[in-house]
Amino acid sequence: MCGIIGYIGKSDATGILIKGLKDLEYRGYDSGGIAVLNKNRLNIVKAKGEIRYLEEKLGKNSISGSPGIGHTRWATHGKANEINAHPHCSKHFAVVHNGIIENYKEIKESLSMNGITFESETDTEVIPKLLELNYNGDVLHAIKKTVKLLEGSYALGILCTDNEQSFYCTKKGSPLIIGVGEDENFIASDVNPLLHYTRKAIYLEDGETAEITADKITVFNSSFSKIEKEIKTIQLDKSSADKGSFEHFMLKEIYEEPAVVKNSLNAVTDDGEVVFSDMPFSADDFRQLNRVYIVGCGSAYHVGLIAKYNFEKVAKVPAFAEYAGEFRYADAVIDENCLVIIISQSGETADSLAALKQAKEMGAKTISIVNVPESSIAKMSHYNILTLAGAEVAVATTKAFSCQLCVLNMLCLYIARQRNACTEVFSEIAVNMSCLLPKKIEKMLLKTEELKRLAKEMKDIEKCFFLGRNVDFGVSLEGALKLKEISYIDCAGYPASELKHGTISLIEKGTVCFGLISNNELLPKTVSNLTEVTARGAKVIVFAPESLAENLAQFETVITFPDSIPFLTPSIEVIPLQLLAYYVAYERNLPIDKPRNLAKSVTVE
Ligand code: M6R
Repeated sequence: MCGIIGYIGKSDATGILIKGLKDLEYRGYDSGGIAVLNKNRLNIVKAKGEIRYLEEKLGKNSISGSPGIGHTRWATHGKANEINAHPHCSKHFAVVHNGIIENYKEIKESLSMNGITFESETDTEVIPKLLELNYNGDVLHAIKKTVKLLEGSYALGILCTDNEQSFYCTKKGSPLIIGVGEDENFIASDVNPLLHYTRKAIYLEDGETAEITADKITVFNSSFSKIEKEIKTIQLDKSSADKGSFEHFMLKEIYEEPAVVKNSLNAVTDDGEVVFSDMPFSADDFRQLNRVYIVGCGSAYHVGLIAKYNFEKVAKVPAFAEYAGEFRYADAVIDENCLVIIISQSGETADSLAALKQAKEMGAKTISIVNVPESSIAKMSHYNILTLAGAEVAVATTKAFSCQLCVLNMLCLYIARQRNACTEVFSEIAVNMSCLLPKKIEKMLLKTEELKRLAKEMKDIEKCFFLGRNVDFGVSLEGALKLKEISYIDCAGYPASELKHGTISLIEKGTVCFGLISNNELLPKTVSNLTEVTARGAKVIVFAPESLAENLAQFETVITFPDSIPFLTPSIEVIPLQLLAYYVAYERNLPIDKPRNLAKSVTVE
C-alpha cells in the first residue's frame, strides 16, 4: 500500500509529482504530500484525503523546484491526518516510504532517549531521523548505515538539502521502479506514472540503492558497490491507465473484459492446444503431483476456489484453494510433489508473496499467475504466466479476475493433458469453447440495462446473500465481495446448502438472496435451497444460463447469461455480478473506484 514518486530534471517537479500521485492513488488515499527542493530548502505541502485535496492546497501555497518526492498514503501506523502524512523530515532529509518498519518502536525509543523528538505516530519518521544521525556529509553513507537498522519492508524516496543535483531511492520488499528519461529521471511504485514520460525503466531489486541526477542513474548493491543494471522497455499500454469516456475505471474495465480475456487466452493457446512455452516442469513432474494448492487473497482466492473444482474433476489431482494469509501460517504439508499456484493481479500482495516464498523454500514447485510483469511474485516463482488484462485501476478487480480464471483453467487443462487425466478431445473442445468466451461476455454486457434496473430496485437494501454450490459457491463469494466492497451493503456468499445450518435465521421478509446456478447438475439441489429461503420470505434473484431458464419459472427474477460448458461457465456468470455491484454503488452515489479504507495493492500483512 502507499504509492511513492520522485522526479529530477529540467521541469518543475510539483506538477509531475501530483500527476504521478493521481496515477498511484489506487494504492491508498488517506493523505498525500510532496517535498521539493528549491535553493537547498525543503518545501513541503501535505493534505488529508485524496490527492485532489493536496492539489487544492497547492493552488493556494504554490511551491516549485526540482528534485521532488511525493506520497499517497494508506494508513498503517497512526491516523489518517496531515501530521502523519508523508514526507517525513529531519534537518537535512525528507523521506517518502511505502512499506512497514517493523522495529520502529525500538528505534524510536532509543532515539528518544538521545533527545530526538518525533511529530507523527508513523513508523516512517524514524527513517529521516536515522539518516540525520548517520549523516556526515555523505548521503550514501547515511543511507547505508540507516537501512542496516531497518527491519520490515520499504521503498524509499529521499531528498537531502545539501544536494540539489540528486535524489536517492532504495528498496526491500516493496516495489520501486526508476523511469529513465531524457535529461530527467523518475521513480515510482509502479510503471503507470512513468508512462507519461518514458518507456525505459530500471527495476530495482531488494537491497539496491540508487543515486539519481537529471542525466545519470547510479545503482549500488547491498554492499554499496556500483553495479550495472539493464534498462528494460515497459510493455504496458498507456491507454489502460486512462478512463476514456467512462465515468469510472471499474465500468471501463468491465467493458474491456472481452478484449483482455481474448488476449490472455491467445497467449496460452494455439490451434486448439494449450501452450506454455519454457515450462520448467516435465510431464513426469505433473504426473507425480500429490496435491495442488491455489493461493491468493480476496478475489484471487475466489479464482482459486472456482478452479479447484476443475483441477479435481479434470486434472484428477487433489486441489485446495487457500487464503494466502492463512496458508503461510498453516504448517501445510508441502514437498517437492506439491504444486503451489499463486494468483495475484498486482504481483505484490504481501501475504501471497510470503506464501510463495515459504512454499518455494519447502521444495514445492511454484507457478504464478500475475498481471504485472517484473512484479515480485512474477520474479520469485519458478514459472510465471502473465495475464494480459492491462493496468487495472479500480480497487474492485474485474478484468484481472476474469483473465486469471481463464488462464488458470488453461493451466488446469495443460496439467490434465500432461497427466493423461483428460482426453485430447475434451481438452480440444474446452480450448475451442474458451475462444468463444469473449463473444459470450460481450453478449452479457448487452444486458446492462436490465442490471441497471435491478440495481435501482436494490439500492436501499441493508443485507443480502449470494448462494451457490461447487463452482457457484466460488462465484457467490466473488459476487458478495464485489458488492460489499463498493456499495458497503452487508453481504455474504455461502454454499447454498449451508444457510440452514444457522444463517437462515437472518432471513426475513424481503431479504435479498441471489441464487447462482451454472449448470444442470447443480440445478435441482440449489433450486431446493432457494425454495427454502423463499418460504421464509426472501426475495430470490437467480442467475443462470439461458438453457436452464425454463426450469426456473417459479422465481420472480431470473437473469440469464449465454451457455457454455460447465468447465468455463463461471467466467460468464461473474459478469452480471460485477455489473450489478457497479450499478448498486452508482445508485448509492459512492466513490466506486476508491472505496473507503481500501487500497488496490495490499503490500502489508
Ligand atoms: O493484487 P492481488 O490480486 O494479489 O490482490 C488481492 C486482493 O487484494 C484483491 O483481489 C481484492 O480482494 C480486490 N479488492 C477485490 O476486488
